[in-house]
Amino acid sequence: MTDHVKVEVEAGVMTLTLARPDKKNALSNAMYGVLADGLERAETDPSVRVVVFQADGDSFSSGNDLQDFAAQATGAFSGERHVMRFLKALAGATRPLVAAVQGQAVGVGTTMLLHCDLVFVSPDAKLTVPFVNLALVPEAASSLLLPARIGHARAYAMFALGEAVNGETAAAWGIANACVPAEDLRARARAAADQLAKRPLGALTVTKTLMRDAEGIAALMDREGELFGQRLQTAEAREAFTAFMERRPPDFTKVG
Ligand code: COA
Repeated sequence: MTDHVKVEVEAGVMTLTLARPDKKNALSNAMYGVLADGLERAETDPSVRVVVFQADGDSFSSGNDLQDFAAQATGAFSGERHVMRFLKALAGATRPLVAAVQGQAVGVGTTMLLHCDLVFVSPDAKLTVPFVNLALVPEAASSLLLPARIGHARAYAMFALGEAVNGETAAAWGIANACVPAEDLRARARAAADQLAKRPLGALTVTKTLMRDAEGIAALMDREGELFGQRLQTAEAREAFTAFMERRPPDFTKVG
C-alpha cells in the first residue's frame, strides 16, 4: 500500500491521482500496484463507469522510479512486481480512460496516455519517452502505438533522441484531444468524464473493444517487457541510472 496514489469514486467516475509531487510523481512499484488495483476494480465494480488519471504538483509523472530500476539492475529488488499488471490492465481496460496532464510526462507517464481515450494537456506539458537515453527500449506497447499515432519519424526522434513534445504539439499530433489552460485542466477532464459516465456503458465498451486490438497489444507488451528486462541488466543501463543518481551526464563510452 502507498499514499502516493489517491483513489476516489464519485458519480460513476474513479479518479486515480498520482500524489508524490516531491519526486515529480515517479512511479514506484507500490504505486503501480494501487493503479493496477484501481483499473481492475473499475472493470468489475458497477459504480465505476469511467476512470480519470490526474496528478498533484507541477508534473504528471517523471516515469518509472529510477531507484527501482537501479535496484532491479543490481538484483536488489525482491517481491511482487506490479508494473506489468498495471500495463496489462491498461491494455485490457474496457472502461473509458481520461487523463489530465501537466508538466513532465516522462516514459510511462507518456506511454500510458496512448491507452487513454480522452487526453487533456496543459501548455506546459512536456512529453518525453527517453528510453534510449537510459539504454532501455520502449514499453507499454509504445513501440507500435506511438508511431501508429504520430508517424515513424516523429516517434523515432522521441524514442532515440529523447525529443520532447509540448502540450500544443501533443494536441496537434493527436496524442491529446486538446491543450487547455493549466487552471482549467482538471475541470475539463472531469467534465469529459462526467459526460462519458452518462453515456450507455454497453455501447461505449463495445466501441472501445472494436477500436483496440487488446490481445495484440498485450502480446507486444510481453515481448517488449522481455527485452526491457534484459536491457535493465546491461552495463549501459547501470551507467545511466548511476549517472542520474550522481546528477551527472552518463558516459556510455566507458561501458563499450
Ligand atoms: N525516479 C526517482 N526519482 C526521481 C525521478 C524518477 N524517475 N524523477 C525525478 N526524481 C526525483 C529527483 O531525484 C529529485 O529528488 P530529490 O529532490 O530528492 O533530489 C526530485 O524527484 C525532483 O527532481 P529534479 O530532477 O530535481 O526535478 P527537475 O524539475 O530538475 O527535473 C525531470 C524533472 C523529470 C526532468 C528529471 O527529474 C528527470 O529527468 N527524471 C528522470 C526521468 C526518467 O528518466 N524517468 C524514467 C523514464 S523510463
